[in-house]
Amino acid sequence: MPQSSIARAIMIFGIGLILMLGGAAVWMLLRTPSQTNEVKSTGEALIGGPFELVDQFGQARSDADFLGGYMLIYFGYTYCPDVCPTSLGIMSQAIDQLEESDPAKAKRITPVFITVDPERDDVEIMKGYAEHFRPGMIALTGTSEQVAKAAKAYRVYFRKAEDANSSEYLMDHSSIFYLMGPDGKYVKHFTHSDDATTIATALATLIQPE
Ligand code: NI
Repeated sequence: MPQSSIARAIMIFGIGLILMLGGAAVWMLLRTPSQTNEVKSTGEALIGGPFELVDQFGQARSDADFLGGYMLIYFGYTYCPDVCPTSLGIMSQAIDQLEESDPAKAKRITPVFITVDPERDDVEIMKGYAEHFRPGMIALTGTSEQVAKAAKAYRVYFRKAEDANSSEYLMDHSSIFYLMGPDGKYVKHFTHSDDATTIATALATLIQPE
């Protein structure tokens, strides 16, 4: 082989090596964002956890009572002028719609309403309020500490609105529906801007038959 051919072969090999290393570097750089996403979705999966509260019939209820079925959970308060009643209405309608298309799946879901305002939302008030929504809805209250613990587990933000010092105060709170699986683990969440049909359609694919 003439010397110039050997030189060319070495050069081509060299270029190939550089391209390969460059490609590997780019691949590693591109991988970084997806690793970030993995961390994010792992964080999301940590939503949920133990709670000990009291239902609208005065019965003590814990997260363990709901294992084996799905929970669709919403945190809010009964004095909420608009967002909570609207959201709980949407949650009820979504399960109603699923019941029409797939009653067995709808039966697996317990709608759960947890107050962030235990100071006013006692057992009796929760009972009266839950009656406005889907039958079978479990409305939970408790001590301030119990409620704070449950809200923390679900990464729910709430606080008394600053401008209210009378008994007519409002609460700021996050407005999210959490679908929790039969193993007690987070499945998916919906926001209050999702309509009933969107949620019903998602539930139909997410809920596994028994
Ligand atoms: Ni509200």
